[in-house]
Amino acid sequence: MSEPTCTITVIYYSSTGNVAKMAMALGDGAASAGAEVRVRRVAETAPAEAIAYNPKWADYVAKSANDAVATLADIEWADGLAIGSPTRFGGPASQMKAFLDTTGGLWAKGVLVDKVGTAFTSSSTAHGGLESTILAINNHFYHWGSIVLPLGYENEYLLKVSGNPYGASFVSRKGAGPDDVALTAARMQGERLARITSWVRIGREARA
Ligand SMILES: Cc1cc2nc3c(=O)[nH]c(=O)nc-3n(C[C@H](O)[C@H](O)[C@H](O)COP(=O)(O)O)c2cc1C
Repeated sequence: MSEPTCTITVIYYSSTGNVAKMAMALGDGAASAGAEVRVRRVAETAPAEAIAYNPKWADYVAKSANDAVATLADIEWADGLAIGSPTRFGGPASQMKAFLDTTGGLWAKGVLVDKVGTAFTSSSTAHGGLESTILAINNHFYHWGSIVLPLGYENEYLLKVSGNPYGASFVSRKGAGPDDVALTAARMQGERLARITSWVRIGREARA
């Protein structure tokens, strides 16, 4: 086995599994490009009473109980980060924000500087806030001094089929799970993240 080209952590929140599936696809894409990858969910913070009102949410909470939970060490370890959240009223879920708001110590130490960061999401409507959610996640990268990486339009598929240069996005009609288009875009985002992050790492090591 050759040495990994870089380390990537994919951090996501998901209440019914859509963003979780995109996170796995993005992680697979990064691994296929040579990265060592961790995929981590952020902890659920909603009260049990609220979760119990929505059977799909309750099912997913039970199903994901043993999935690895993101820690600050997972951020510190990574050369590159992908952060994904469902769109909630046009922005990221509070569960994700709660986790991101624990990074003040890493920020103060300068640990987040020069990491490469990219974002992805799922909503239930095409104009319900996909881009605003990704942009709001990206705000953390600016404050961290990270390098904001868009998905872009680097090939025909991203331009003409999936079509969102901000980041992989899925519109979940009637609760549908991510389709092949969204999962392919997520994989491409992971490959791109690993590729660019490995270049940044080579440059950093060359200067050390
Ligand atoms: C409280 C709440 C707020 C939401 N806000 C939006 C929204 O602003 N725009 C939208 O299109 N979908 C919205 N949705 C739908 C979710 O973003 C969508 O179902 C997403 O695919 C869920 O992803 P998950 O399965 O990873 O949790 C909302 C859902 C909930 C429960």
